[in-house]
Parts: sequence; structure tokens; C-alpha cells
Amino acid sequence: ELRDWRGPFAEVLSPICKKTEDGSDPQPLVIGKTPLMNGKAALQALDAAVNAYGQGRGDWPSFSVARRIEHVEQFLAEMRSHREAVVELLMWEIGKTYNDACKEFDRTADYISDTIHELKVLDRRSSRFETVGGVVAQTRRLPVGVALCMGPYNYPLNETFTTLIPALIMGNTVVFKPAKYGVLLIAPLLEAFRNSFPPGVINVIFGRGRDTVGPLMKSGHVDMFAFIGTHKGASALKQMHPKPHRLKAVLGLDANNPAIVLADADLDLAVSECVAGALSFNGQRCTALKLLLVHESLAEEFVSRFSVAVNNLVAGMPWDKNVALTPLPEPGKVAYLRELVKDAETNGAAIVNEGGGQANGTYFHPALLYPVTTSMRIYSEEQFGPVIPVVAFRNEAEAIRHVRDSEFGQQLSIFGTDPETMGGLIDILANQVGRINLNGQCQRGPDTLPFNGRKDSAEGTLSVSDALRVFSIRTTVSTKSS
Ligand code: G3H
Repeated sequence: ELRDWRGPFAEVLSPICKKTEDGSDPQPLVIGKTPLMNGKAALQALDAAVNAYGQGRGDWPSFSVARRIEHVEQFLAEMRSHREAVVELLMWEIGKTYNDACKEFDRTADYISDTIHELKVLDRRSSRFETVGGVVAQTRRLPVGVALCMGPYNYPLNETFTTLIPALIMGNTVVFKPAKYGVLLIAPLLEAFRNSFPPGVINVIFGRGRDTVGPLMKSGHVDMFAFIGTHKGASALKQMHPKPHRLKAVLGLDANNPAIVLADADLDLAVSECVAGALSFNGQRCTALKLLLVHESLAEEFVSRFSVAVNNLVAGMPWDKNVALTPLPEPGKVAYLRELVKDAETNGAAIVNEGGGQANGTYFHPALLYPVTTSMRIYSEEQFGPVIPVVAFRNEAEAIRHVRDSEFGQQLSIFGTDPETMGGLIDILANQVGRINLNGQCQRGPDTLPFNGRKDSAEGTLSVSDALRVFSIRTTVSTKSS
């Protein structure tokens, strides 16, 4: 059975989706098809991964590090040859601008080559033998087993490959379920997987998550779960495993990253970083700034400069020149964002920028909401889209409370100029978030830095080097010394 994939470009925004002849609204274009696998087919993929892992000498986990690196290098070379096709699909499937799509591809390729380099360093260190207490011992990093890797639709290439590649290179076999959207872009890479790895080492499943992932988890044969998505989704899937406590997991989950704009902040800098932080890829980044906390003395000026900056952003199709705002890939997203705006308006906030909240097909023009208060849904729900709440705070203690009260703790930005105030906030809030950005937006990169979070935002740490540790276990092999 095949499933049709439609891009986000329905209706008038698309130059190729015009009104139909009978005047009715056009449907989004079908841009490709993938197999619609069921639970049985998904379990066959898992069997292949289990067999490729554990049949004995000569299987993937027993390959030398150098040999596994060769396979990954071959994959990287083939992947690079598909750059154009993947970039094109990133634009068509999820509406990522051409520049951002190129960045996603190049960053992923860099991540793979950095991983290869880092593994060589790690391997040199862990190949040492030590003689201690009558034994000769070597403590090595060995694979965990069969890994299930699932990424998000907003970085369907990058975020999945930042788990998939470390998993493979450390000797795990993998079942890989592409994201909710951004699925077709895996198609050009299937041949590269097939050419680069022994059969069963990497297995891709296409199909609805509810039909395919549940049976995999319930089988009990998944040893490692790498998932980027919601906290709710991750918990539900983990609980399906018959022995969830044995499942090793690395999870990148919800985030509601705040920015604190202090009274002495450089306002131009704060506004331009907050606009980029809240609106690049239409706010659909886990690291996006999703709550702007601004000192009351600056709030009105901040909001007015932010509105002007939004007016200067170009809306259009991903391949248009200088475009910044594009249609959203999720069909129901516009309705959800409208609900958030309506709730805020009912409770006393207003859209302060011109045209804010206007929608056209799957395009939603950014809505800057002010003054936002703690009782509004937008204050605590992760909008993951172009609705920007601004909350005015009176003093540092109040700003700290906003950060502490959140269920999530991925990152935080602080804008200000007094080193003592900033230093104090870092010390106090370090136990709340995984990364604090000073006078800059939140971001994952550079990918060599730890990427994690506190509270319900993450489990485990991903960076080039951390990922190699996450997808392996330290095992000591020893023998009596003569
Ligand atoms: O969506 C989560 C991404 O890993 C964020 O990466 O901060 O580089 O956009 P980014």
C-alpha cells in the first residue's frame, strides 16, 4: 500500500496551486509516495536488525572501529552526491527556505565527518590496557544493541542523523523511522544506505507511527531508544516496552525557551536576536525563543521595535529570494495557533503587529502578543510556530520565577550589560536549563557543544562526542596478569 504525501503549499501562496476550474479550493499537491507499512512489516525490519547484530563473529558489532568508519565514510560520500535532491525536498515537504535547507544538509554532513574524527580520538583512548591488582584490563566502549531512531519534522535530516550515525558507527544496528513530515527526502538516501552498510544494519520503516512503532516497542527487542519529539509521546512509547527500565534512552523533548531582557539591555541587539530566535523557520525549532520576558521599563519600546522588524521580514515560498516566513507543514497548525491567539485576546492581550495572525492556506503571519500573563495558554503551551508572547516583569526575582515555574528547561537567553547581574542569574538559573545564551538567541549549534536540557526537556546529552558515549556502554575486559 502506498501513501500520498502532500506538501504545505496549498492554495494561493503557491505559484503552482491555483484555483481549480470549477472555482473550488485546490488541494495541496501530491509530491510523492512512500510505502505504508504495517506492524508486521515493521517487525520484519526489527528482525533484520536483531539478526545483523547478534549472529556471531563477523557481525556489525564485531567490526573494527576502522572498518565501521570506512562504511560511514562511504555513506557520507554518497549522501553528498544527493545534496540537491534532499535540499529540494526539504523545501517542498516542510517549507524550509533554500538557505536553511542548504544549512541543514551541510551541517549534517559536517556532523558525520566530525563524528568520524571524534571516534578516532575516543578509540585511541579506550584501546589502552592497564595492569592493576593482578589483572590486565581494557575498558572499551561497546555497542548497546538494536537502536530505534526517530527524529522530528523540523530537522528531518539533521536531528535524525545526529542519532542515527553515532548509533551505527558505535556498532549498534538500527531501525529508523523518519519524521512525521520530511519523509520523502530519505528516499534518495536509501540506495546510499544499501550500498554502504551490510544487510540488516540499517533498516528504514515508512508508515504511521501508531501502526509501526508500537509493535516494535512491545516486542522487547529494542535496546536503545533515540527520540526527538514530545515528552508525552516519548513516555507513552517507553512504557510500551515490556522492560522499560532496561531501555537505554536519549530524548530531545519539549522546550519553552524564554528570553530575559533586563532593564539595561542593548535594545536593538535584544530585538534583532529575539526576532531571529522566535521566527527563524517560523518558530518551528525546539530551540526557538517561545516566551519573551521583558523588563517593564522597556516592554512597550521592545514590542514596537519588534513589530517593525517583523514587517521587514519577507513572506513567500521557500525558494523565493530573501524569504524568511513560509507556509507551515502541519495541516492543523493554523487552527491551533488561532486558538492560542484567541485565548490570549479573551484574557487581555492584543496582537500588536500589523497583519499579525492573518492566515492564508497554511501560511500564518507572525502574531506578537502583549501583554501576556501567566493565565494564558500561550504562556505555558509550546506553540512551535509564529506566535510570540511578551510578558513584562518588574524585577529579577519575578523573571527567575517565570523560568523556574516552567515544566521545561532546555535553554535560556539573557540580554543585559551588567556582568554582575548576568553572572548572578547564570548561577541561580543553571539548574533550570541546559544552556544559557548571553546577549544571543538560543541555539543548538555548534554541534560540538553539549545539547541537552533539564526538567521535562531532555534525557541524555547529544553533541558530537557525547553522542558516541550515549550510543555505547563501557565494558571492562580483563584477564589475570602473568
Ligand atoms: O529543533 C531543534 C534543533 O536541534 C535546533 O537546532 O538551534 O540549530 O536551529 P538550531
